[in-house]
Amino acid sequence: INPPNQMVDGSGLNRVACRAKGGSPGFKVAILGAAGGIGQPLAMLMKMNPLVSVLHLYDVANAPGVTADISHMDTSAVVRGFLGQPQLEEALTGMDLVIIPAGVPRKPGMTRDDLFNINAGIVRTLSEAIAKCCPKAVVNIISNPVNSTVPIAAEVFKKAGTFDPKKLMGVTMLDVVRANTFVAEVMSLDPREVDVPVVGGHAGVTILPLLSQVKPPCSFTQKEIEYLTDRIQNGGTEVVEAKAGAGSATLSMAYAAVEFADACLRGLRGDANIVECAYVASHVTELPFFASKVRLGRCGIDEVYGLGPLNEYERMGLEKAKKELSGSIEKGVTFAKK
Ligand code: NAI
Repeated sequence: INPPNQMVDGSGLNRVACRAKGGSPGFKVAILGAAGGIGQPLAMLMKMNPLVSVLHLYDVANAPGVTADISHMDTSAVVRGFLGQPQLEEALTGMDLVIIPAGVPRKPGMTRDDLFNINAGIVRTLSEAIAKCCPKAVVNIISNPVNSTVPIAAEVFKKAGTFDPKKLMGVTMLDVVRANTFVAEVMSLDPREVDVPVVGGHAGVTILPLLSQVKPPCSFTQKEIEYLTDRIQNGGTEVVEAKAGAGSATLSMAYAAVEFADACLRGLRGDANIVECAYVASHVTELPFFASKVRLGRCGIDEVYGLGPLNEYERMGLEKAKKELSGSIEKGVTFAKK
């Protein structure tokens, strides 16, 4: 087996020449928690992404099986598996993008915050390893509660002296994907043509769809606004209840995570005008983290966009979102400083 052809481009990222004939240089991507409900379909979809040249699959369980399985797909990304803490550093070394779906999912009756005690520790450990092994990588955090796990990762990176706010993103794309789907349903549109900005955070009332800014422009009745806002905010719970104890969204989440990761990679490649919503370090409100539209570029986040004009209903939603978000951020920061 020929080792991949290493080269470093102007952005300082290690790239590996794509093995496919005529392929463009690809990126090295690691998935931490790759054998889980989200991790497996996410790994499969990333193996299909032509921008990925090397795919590292890390988990504390079942990583070899998932790796063997996915490595047989005849796409160009080279897949390597890593099992357990002793192999974590090797899994991360040289990565351009790290996606983290590691941790426990919700069961009926649980809020995302109920996951805090287990997932906070997992994200802290994984972030410490990222700070050590690939401090320049773009990091996509999926593990819930995202409202707190992103501040935890930021604190870990600050402590290690590697924090770059342009590189750390909480994945809120599933809220956007759901919002696009539900709005398309109500308005009888093709969901692929709908774009709903969803800002705030990623839990309950912190999920704030800006229905006044939907593209293409739509005019909703107040009843439709209330129905859509409630359904978008509680889309996760809809899936948790339907799965009746078997976990939370995995397939739609993997789809959303791949959409977001692909946007990050296109940004790193230098494509123009890559704009997605994400939960990031922010000056858009008085809170240190907030989800809004961001423009992705060669260094991660090139620009964090403001919220644009809000109507009265959205302004009220924003106040509620900020109140809850503030507590979740504080909880994450306190945990990481302990
Ligand atoms: P899962 O339980 O099916 O998979 C989690 C995987 O993480 C398992 O394979 C497990 O072995 C692994 N894991 C546990 N500890 C680990 C560690 N220290 N290092 C590496 N891997 C570790 O759970 P699922 O359904 O895949 O969900 C994962 C996370 O994603 C949960 O926290 C869930 O709440 C969150 N989630 C986030 C969403 C979002 O929109 N951001 C949407 C849906 C779920």
